[in-house]
Amino acid sequence: MSVQSTASQTDYFIDLENQYSAHNYHPLPVVLREGKGVFVWDVEGKKYYDFLSAYSAVNQGHCHPKIIDALIEQSKKLTLTSRAFHSEQLSLFSKFITGYFGYDKVLPMNTGAEAVETALKLCRHWAYRVKRVEENKAKIIVCKGNFHGRTISIVSFSTDPTAKSDFGPFTPGFEVIPYNDLPALAEALKDKNVAGFLVESIQGEAGVNVPDDGYISKAKQYCTDANVLFIADEIQTGLSRTGKLLCCDHENVRPDILILGKALSGGTMPVSAVLADDEIMLTIKSGEHGSTYGGNPLASSIAIAALEVLKEEKLAENAEALGNLFREELEKLNSPHIEKIRGKGLLNAIIIKDKSENTGWKLCIELKENGLLAKPTHGDKIRFAPPLVITKDQILDCIGIIEKSLKVLD
Ligand SMILES: Cc1ncc(COP(=O)(O)O)c(C=O)c1O
Repeated sequence: MSVQSTASQTDYFIDLENQYSAHNYHPLPVVLREGKGVFVWDVEGKKYYDFLSAYSAVNQGHCHPKIIDALIEQSKKLTLTSRAFHSEQLSLFSKFITGYFGYDKVLPMNTGAEAVETALKLCRHWAYRVKRVEENKAKIIVCKGNFHGRTISIVSFSTDPTAKSDFGPFTPGFEVIPYNDLPALAEALKDKNVAGFLVESIQGEAGVNVPDDGYISKAKQYCTDANVLFIADEIQTGLSRTGKLLCCDHENVRPDILILGKALSGGTMPVSAVLADDEIMLTIKSGEHGSTYGGNPLASSIAIAALEVLKEEKLAENAEALGNLFREELEKLNSPHIEKIRGKGLLNAIIIKDKSENTGWKLCIELKENGLLAKPTHGDKIRFAPPLVITKDQILDCIGIIEKSLKVLD
């Protein structure tokens, strides 16, 4: 389709999307056409640093050559078999990912929400078939401020009214406790019907809410003591984002059920996975759960490449070093507009002092004008999560852009 005037291309595509696509998002007014590494380009040819990385799905950088090669090569051979047949790539992927993370088994899915649903089902199965919780009584503990996806069951335990209102009736069997609150967890675990504790090791969507040191390891210990599964949603925090392969690794915690997504495909297609040991995973029998595309050969081949890139390019180490640098340099700006800087590795956020409704949006528009794309979350918080292939010089360049942009709030 030809577009007449270059100057109007942005408006043209935004109008088209608004007219024909549902209004379930509120994107920044920029229309992207290309991406390479840490950069994206809009339809008018303007270049930006991508400081969102598709909510941490593009940890390896846009269009990583090794991942794209895997995609092209496999897509010429075989893309989908369904699970009615075995596939060479699923076998190879299953061996690879279980060895990579140290679990007996993997259950592959597509989106993050599907992987979370899978973990919840697995946890309930384990509760009835191993722990012997009374039928239909199993309970899963979750945290206030959680974000685990958008299905009816998942929004049933969301505490965000926007995610939840007018979507009822909701799925029962969940108990919400405050995040980063060990006494509340200890209290909730007293119920013998509790089967699992589902938690993010940093709450990403809530605005990069980092818990106290020791929270994750103590929570895991409490769960173990109560014979309750510790289920880590590492969809956003995992895969090197926070400076370790998994965010739980900061506290040497091995989740009973590990949920991965997003960067498992390096941003090329939806690939998610749930990992667990046999005692848990083998409670699901043939026909009890599945997905047509889950574990497809194309996804399997891409995921192996995406995981290899993380180690070959030492992306966790880079995230750790450059995350420290980023927060130090942000602190040095000593900006009167920043109330707080928080994060781990390259999952960071600033909290803006001015709480008026549009301040976060205004700053993001200014950042965009100056060549950096970021998005506010919950109004006054702006998440900074660039691809992990970013370099020191690029980080310093971005600090300059952020410093310049903050002046719009003067
Ligand atoms: C922690 C966490 N869990 C689950 C999800 C849902 O993943 P998806 O959007 O792929 O369904 C997200 C997405 O942002 C997430 O951040």
